Amino acid sequence: MSRKKIVAGNWKMNKTLPEAEALVKSIISGCPEGNEVTKIFFPPSLFIEKISGLVNGKANFHVGAQNCHHLPAGAYTGEVSAAGVASCGAQYVLTGHSERRIYFSESSEELRQKIDVALKNNLSPIYCVGEKINERKTNGYFHAVKKQIEDVIFYLKPDDMKRVVLAYEPVWAIGTGETATPDQAQEMHAFMRLAVAEKFGPEMAANTSILYGGSCNAGNAKELFSCPDVDGGLIGGASLKADEFLMIINSF
Ligand code: PGA
Repeated sequence: MSRKKIVAGNWKMNKTLPEAEALVKSIISGCPEGNEVTKIFFPPSLFIEKISGLVNGKANFHVGAQNCHHLPAGAYTGEVSAAGVASCGAQYVLTGHSERRIYFSESSEELRQKIDVALKNNLSPIYCVGEKINERKTNGYFHAVKKQIEDVIFYLKPDDMKRVVLAYEPVWAIGTGETATPDQAQEMHAFMRLAVAEKFGPEMAANTSILYGGSCNAGNAKELFSCPDVDGGLIGGASLKADEFLMIINSF
């Protein structure tokens, strides 16, 4: 995948089906014709098929899954598989989100398997990394993020890495209303791109999209997206309102 401008909406555990359909319809109808930003909705899994039907044939709109299990199939009550979400129309899957690392204890080993099974099912993983507040305060943030990249992404073959999108999501900024400053975001995005270059070479690094996530909204997106290494955003709270999401799409 070549480097793209991307705005992704991670709805988390929000919306009913009628609300989800209304949101997507308003965003599609409010999006300026010819807009080239890649727009990806991450609804709760049970809405993927419906939302996929709504974006089908709409240029630059896609649907992804917030999660999939790290094993291909089996007796895991309540879980969804990569093949399952792909068969409903998902083209992307979030992996490594801090809420999954923290509340569901997802390990690097599981994340490697999850990315592997996602790729085998033609899903592009968006791999999220980010430091916790104590790591930011004690200047351990580069180390923390490098480790999350090394432990998971460095295992990939170059052809697989081409299909991965990265997201920098400082844990202290997610859902808190506190955003990384453009300087903090740019510094980390450049560092992440360098890490990709060291392992996979400069061409891969130049072609990797790196999104910023963590209280990104209509008020700060323009400044964040103007940073040379910020290729767009992974948006939580602000992706739940059509007008705000549209303003973010128009922030490049
Ligand atoms: P937020 O969430 O925009 O609500 O901070 C971002 C995310 O968790 O992806």
